[in-house]
Amino acid sequence: MSDTLVLGIESSCDETSAAVLRGDRELLGHVILSQDAHEVWGGVVPEIAARAHLSVLDRVVEQTLQEAGVGLGDVDALGVTTGPGLIGALLVGVSWAKAAAFALDRPLVGVHHMEAHLFAPGIEDPEAEPPFVALLVSGGHTLLLHVERWGSYRLLGETRDDAAGEAYDKVARLLGLPYPGGPHVERLAAEGDRGRLRLPRPMLRRDQRPGDPDFYDFSFSGLKTAVAAAREETPGDEGAAHVAAAFQEAAVDVLVSKTLRAVEETGCPRVLLGGGVASNRGLREEAAKRLRRVGGREARLFFASPRLSSDNGAMVARAARFHLLRGAVAPPDLAAHAALPFPGLERTGRGKGRVRGG
Ligand code: KG4
Ligand code: ZN
Repeated sequence: MSDTLVLGIESSCDETSAAVLRGDRELLGHVILSQDAHEVWGGVVPEIAARAHLSVLDRVVEQTLQEAGVGLGDVDALGVTTGPGLIGALLVGVSWAKAAAFALDRPLVGVHHMEAHLFAPGIEDPEAEPPFVALLVSGGHTLLLHVERWGSYRLLGETRDDAAGEAYDKVARLLGLPYPGGPHVERLAAEGDRGRLRLPRPMLRRDQRPGDPDFYDFSFSGLKTAVAAAREETPGDEGAAHVAAAFQEAAVDVLVSKTLRAVEETGCPRVLLGGGVASNRGLREEAAKRLRRVGGREARLFFASPRLSSDNGAMVARAARFHLLRGAVAPPDLAAHAALPFPGLERTGRGKGRVRGG
């Protein structure tokens, strides 16, 4: 099985991507096409996304196979994101993968998009394996997990409103920056003075204790409102940079502080950052600076390169391979789901807070 070729397909949001993975970590071909048709709308338009996937997926796969130097018939198995995501966008990938698996008579594995993000850093770093505390920060989700082994995920915390990436995107819009906002806010923040303004750290207080419903949970919608108010009081281009810097400082502080609480509580100083926001250098650097060994265990921080942190087919292929080796082959009526429970997720680590699906 070490030479198994898995074709991974990702189409849950606005990236159309395919990858051919040999074995567990050898990426033979990988193409990611980011749709730029959404930029003028300031966010992803679901109908446009679905149509764009439909028009390019064939070519994306073809180019991936070419890069890998293999034919479609050489592929041993297929993996595809089945959710969560935009239903029309997901359906394009799922329908394509089902048809290909049927025509080729190969097994197909349905993959949960957020679980796939966990598998990305390991493509580049063989040590990015459980156990670890994972902070998954994307455009739609913010999850804090304790992962003792693949397939078994303990949910510690999640956002109660906006996702971390969504907060970056909304702040970008407030500051007149294009979509997707994360990289633009990060760049502008680097020009600002972090100490000029202080924004609130939502849901982060010193008196919180493990077991409190908000000990690990996140909230970003109030921060966005605070940014809007700060922007009114701090006009001009320079002001925008100061506001971006203050936002970045507050968001990163909350994300890192809660992650470090999980490190302390679990006694596991190995941290994995995943999802698009994991590309943020401020987040990576702050996590690296504050992460310490616990109980004699060496501290380690894992994250993928920006290309593999954002949505991509390689992580889908690697997650699919894991499930394939455990015999999890999808039935012929595999469906796409806008909301999809995280496989193997236990909610026992949480406080008594509100529990949301997805
Ligand atoms: O994981 P991802 O590519 O797609 C989803 O599954 O949602 O994450 C996309 C999100 C967007 O909200 C984008 O603004 C954010 O990741 N992002 C960043 C950075 N690069 C991408 N946020 C902050 N800093 C960045 N450098
Ligand atoms: Zn994602």
